[in-house]
Amino acid sequence: MLGFAIFGVGRIGNIRATALQRCGNAKVLYVVDVDEKRVAEFAAKFECEGQSDASRVLSDPRVDAVLVCTNTMAHADVVRAAVLAGKHVFCEKPLALSYQVTDELCKIGTH
Ligand SMILES: NC(=O)c1ccc[n+]([C@@H]2O[C@H](COP(=O)([O-])OP(=O)(O)OC[C@H]3O[C@@H](n4cnc5c(N)ncnc54)[C@H](O)[C@@H]3O)[C@@H](O)[C@H]2O)c1
Repeated sequence: MLGFAIFGVGRIGNIRATALQRCGNAKVLYVVDVDEKRVAEFAAKFECEGQSDASRVLSDPRVDAVLVCTNTMAHADVVRAAVLAGKHVFCEKPLALSYQVTDELCKIGTH
């Protein structure tokens, strides 16, 4: 069973969480959002833990992979933190808002 954390539970986060729920070998362990009301709604819907503390989620060894479904402006910080925490990362497009940051994120992913 693979453990997932979904950062950003808006439109696309909802679609991704629903898809993961249908996989036999995937479990959504956490949903993380800056909107506390949304976190509570999605945690109940997907029967997982709602969190606003990203570091707590990223330090959980049960989390194998992170889906980054936040607004685009927040992608880079979440991706960077997740990669540095040793997680597999799937990020919605665009990865970042500049070539420079995109390049930096690709490089930390190869270390
Ligand atoms: N909606 C689509 O069809 C679609 C398709 C492809 C890609 N995308 C990409 O997916 C991303 C999200 O799009 P959306 O339509 O779901 O947006 P949305 O506004 O519906 O949801 C984004 C969510 O991210 C949360 N958020 C913002 N900053 C955060 C942070 N630092 N930490 C945690 N949560 C945070 C917001 O509170 C919100 O709930 C965008 O980058 C978009 O380009 C969307």
